[in-house]
Amino acid sequence: LWLAVGIRHRQPGEPAVENGLIPYLGCALQFGANPLQFLRSRQKKYGHIFTCKIAGKYIHFLCDPFSYHSVIRQGRHLDWRKFHFATSVKAFGHDSFDPRHGHTTENLHQTFLKTLQGEALPSLIETMMGHLQDVMLKSDTLSPSRDHWWDTICAIYVMFESGYLTLFGKELGEDKCQARQEAQKALVLNALENFKEFDKIFPALVAGLPIHVFKSAYSARENLAKTMHAEHLSKRENVSDLISMRMILNDSLSTFNDISKARTHVALLWASQANTLPATFWSLFYMIRSPDAMKAAHEEVQKILGDSGKTVDPSDPSLKLTRDQLDNMPVLDSIIKEAMRLSSASMNVRVAKEDFLLHLDNQEAYHIRKDDVIALYPPLLHYDPEIYEDPYEYKFDRFLDNKGQEKTTFYRSGRRLRYFYMPFGSGVTKCPGRFFAVYEIKQFLTLVLSYFDMELLDPGIKAPPLDQSRAGLGILQPTYDIDFRYKLKSSQ
Ligand code: HEM
Repeated sequence: LWLAVGIRHRQPGEPAVENGLIPYLGCALQFGANPLQFLRSRQKKYGHIFTCKIAGKYIHFLCDPFSYHSVIRQGRHLDWRKFHFATSVKAFGHDSFDPRHGHTTENLHQTFLKTLQGEALPSLIETMMGHLQDVMLKSDTLSPSRDHWWDTICAIYVMFESGYLTLFGKELGEDKCQARQEAQKALVLNALENFKEFDKIFPALVAGLPIHVFKSAYSARENLAKTMHAEHLSKRENVSDLISMRMILNDSLSTFNDISKARTHVALLWASQANTLPATFWSLFYMIRSPDAMKAAHEEVQKILGDSGKTVDPSDPSLKLTRDQLDNMPVLDSIIKEAMRLSSASMNVRVAKEDFLLHLDNQEAYHIRKDDVIALYPPLLHYDPEIYEDPYEYKFDRFLDNKGQEKTTFYRSGRRLRYFYMPFGSGVTKCPGRFFAVYEIKQFLTLVLSYFDMELLDPGIKAPPLDQSRAGLGILQPTYDIDFRYKLKSSQ
């Protein structure tokens, strides 16, 4: 009978199981309402590892950071591809990237590493910096002379357009013709609207609901895909290596049809924006709200620009920052890290390829069944008061050591932690765009600090609560927008 209703019994040597009260969903609703609270209460009851049924899957939550390593190192018992490739297919509707399914032989992971890291970074950084300044200072969408306030939406718009143009390039000849510029602007605004419409239902797609249930989100995704057909992309200049290489590999190594190819580009647009946008918002919000953070950030930016002899001139916005300069901004780094510590909720997931024994740091070992999921939920670390004192408080210098450099030593129970900060995931599935993401946000903050005097409309405002509907998927969004007041600085 138990089997018939899909309830699992704990076998000797397995972690404690919670089947939940609702058939199929199991604990999904309790988990979804407040994942951190749910997991903490189970951790208290069961210890370092326990199993919950969530939407038909048995998920083992591993809560001991000293044991994370047994999941993160790519052991032969654990598979990451199954889950990741399947999720992308479900959400974006392209054919599978799993080489075992025979649609492509592209090693996607390698493509990402080659085009988003190392030698690819300087040109991404330079292009992004140019677009950020164009959008912030030259575009009439945001013309500083119109209204003296910004809200979350403006900050998001600046990042979206700049990031979009950096990856997908500009239409050929656009610079020379006013009508083309306007058409281009409309295309990006449209892309942002479609992106937001689709992004809203992303958690439902990951949970397994078919996209056809959501008519407007489906057409939003398909509208985005239409703009990314090869015939359109080939009319653009300054397309990033990521997208141009993916176009070549789609053509040479896959049997994807044109729609499937375009949808793979939509997947990348989503990956490049969905977390970056809220991470930028939180970094800006917390920085502006903290006078100490503002002061330290200002000093750092002035020093970096001063040392390189750069003058800030809003009528000629052409600031540049090299990768070395960006690497040399520990204050902004800490400001961003702390904002992401408080807002990230990316679940790290692996699937068991076979029955095996999972060894924990305390010498215990647990039986895991084939096809079960093992998950790490980093907010358990990020909000652990033993690791981060007053964990709910924003402290801009939390990731600075006493010499003002990046702090990398964090402890729990007197032991140094290897894993203490994980907004970008872990091991082989760690975000390949993480370096670029942090550079983008640093560039954005640098420009805001250099060109504008900014303050919150309500300086005493509390941080908006996190929208938990996306818990597990990345950086959480605020539940409401915040208004900023700003004024263009005069030339310095
Ligand atoms: C994957 C976080 C920005 C490209 C991931 C994953 C996380 C993540 C947690 C892994 C998900 C998993 O384990 O399944 C973030 C955060 C960002 C950010 C917090 C910003 C603050 C970016 C940017 C790009 C990017 C700017 C590209 C320009 C990707 C790609 C993947 C990925 C391509 C999939 C990798 C794969 O499946 O092999 N990101 N990301 N990300 N990210 Fe990011």
